[in-house]
Amino acid sequence: MKLTVNGRAHDLASDPLRPLLHVLRDELDVTGPKAGCQQGSCGTCTILVDGEARRSCLTPLALVDGAEVTTIEGLGDATRLNALQAAFHQYYGAQCGFCTSGMIVAAHALLERNPAPTRHDIQTALAGHICRCTGYVKILDAIEAVARGETFTETNGDRQPGVEESVAKTGVSG
Ligand code: FES
Ligand code: FES
Repeated sequence: MKLTVNGRAHDLASDPLRPLLHVLRDELDVTGPKAGCQQGSCGTCTILVDGEARRSCLTPLALVDGAEVTTIEGLGDATRLNALQAAFHQYYGAQCGFCTSGMIVAAHALLERNPAPTRHDIQTALAGHICRCTGYVKILDAIEAVARGETFTETNGDRQPGVEESVAKTGVSG
């Protein structure tokens, strides 16, 4: 099977029924998507398949043959956060960070199809994404900030004190 992940093409001879989550993490070393419930209930494993948010724990490899997969790593990296990653950092939308990559990927998909979502739209898009730490308010604040066009200096390569720690939490590097 053929798969493009964050712009890199892969030929895979894996079990077609293997969940994409495990292919990404264990075979391709793409560890941004987190293995939470592995039953489709928590959202930590969310990735984009041809631009649409999907739960990779419930997506067999065979269903994404030939697809373009984007994970949190494909949205930004440690030296160039995307706006959502920077907003989560600035608005304290991440604490332990385990839910964060899935939250950001889902928010990215929302903003692609609806650049001006209401708070209710954001809540609906994140339904089923579970966070044990933040109480959700700061996550919603961060996404709203991006939606209203707030700018973040970290996105232009100007790394600020403490950003390395935040990057680790947002799942960009593992
Ligand atoms: S690990 Fe996929 S939804 Fe929880
Ligand atoms: S920041 Fe810890 S689970 Fe969300």
